Amino acid sequence: MQEGWHDAAMPQDLNPSLLRSLAQRFGTPLWVYDAAVIRERIAALKAFDTVRFAQKACSNTHILKLMREQGVKVDAVSRGEILRALAAGYRAGGDEIVFTADLLDRETLATVVEHRVPVNAGSIDMLRQLGAMSKGHKVWLRINPGFGHGHSNKTNTGGEHSKHGIWHSELTEALAVIKDEGLQLVGLHMHIGSGVDYGHLSQVCGAMVGLVRQTQAAGHDLQAISAGGGLSIPYRDGDAGIDTAHYFGLWDAARQEAEALLGHKLHLEIEPGRFLVAESGLLLAEVRATKNAGNNHFVLVDAGFNELMRPAMYGAFHAMSLLPRDGSPRPSRPTVVAGPLCESGDVFTQEDGGVVVPRELMAAEVGDLLVIHDTGAYGASMSSNYNSRPLIAEVLVDGATEARLIRRRQMVEELLALEA
Ligand code: LLP
Repeated sequence: MQEGWHDAAMPQDLNPSLLRSLAQRFGTPLWVYDAAVIRERIAALKAFDTVRFAQKACSNTHILKLMREQGVKVDAVSRGEILRALAAGYRAGGDEIVFTADLLDRETLATVVEHRVPVNAGSIDMLRQLGAMSKGHKVWLRINPGFGHGHSNKTNTGGEHSKHGIWHSELTEALAVIKDEGLQLVGLHMHIGSGVDYGHLSQVCGAMVGLVRQTQAAGHDLQAISAGGGLSIPYRDGDAGIDTAHYFGLWDAARQEAEALLGHKLHLEIEPGRFLVAESGLLLAEVRATKNAGNNHFVLVDAGFNELMRPAMYGAFHAMSLLPRDGSPRPSRPTVVAGPLCESGDVFTQEDGGVVVPRELMAAEVGDLLVIHDTGAYGASMSSNYNSRPLIAEVLVDGATEARLIRRRQMVEELLALEA
């Protein structure tokens, strides 16, 4: 590995020479994923009865197929995500796909009814609307326990400032609506945010046991509980990763308490997005210009926040490595890495609030490749066509020999065709 290469949990098969050849073959910017890393992360969660992938993190159908082959079920948060899951071979009707949301738009309501996709309801209105159309439909209740936690305010999904979930004190009302509408309660679900730590986890587990108690007191039975997602990953060298055995242990203890209350076995689900895919992916960009502005040295690459939105949106940190075009290492220097968009916030080295933070990186020259690491989650799936930039290609590497194009690059003509 070369100087400046980020190797905290670096995908094994994505070495610099492979990346150079992928850039030549498929062009830049380019999303690259390593299938081996995804399989490894799935295996780390095998103690849970069900691992349900929150596909919003990376919804390419080939990634979903890989998940399905490994026995992972799937969460969908839109009609589009339901159709993606079906296209990847997930079966409707059972519990392979669950739809989670805080509202049902009319088209999505028709789709969950048509395919009998269980609904994880984040509002009581969803229960009423579903009940009116589909008696016996399977439902989960997503509960907001009154507190939350996240790597940024924007990813905290609990507490009174969050629009997510049914407020904990309305659980009894939700259960009454389920009974009145003739719906079938499957389980209770909680997801209080992305980037959850152990301290909050004990609180969440405790809250779940309390909710199971209330559910039972209201005369309802349960088959399952879901721990939600939120498992963090080490974005910075030195960040502690999640100890999945410890994580499972806390939830398993909560499950056992709940089983003692109910007098029977309960199925335990987990619903991660980031944990399964973030470290498998990287964004490959080409350096197209360098310039100085006062004390700042800028390196301009051909990828922007329309591709990777996380730094601009959350001030999120992503490790970066430079692959010099001639392969020989150069000294490093403080560098601001920015993209091609017509907007000052199009900077990959920034903190929350848009503060630009130069990063120590190998001195770059035009034609070098820049690797932005840990972009397998909320990378491609959050991309946009801003500045009329077509969506870029995605490649899945599987072992030393296979690199498959799993999404071709979009063409500007396809954008224009929508307006014809
Ligand atoms: N379950 C539910 C109901 C969720 O809302 C989410 C994420 C997950 C599971 C998966 O969370 P994860 O395990 O990936 O943390 N765009 C942000 C993250 C937003 C997450 C929204 N919901 C980011 O780039 O960090």
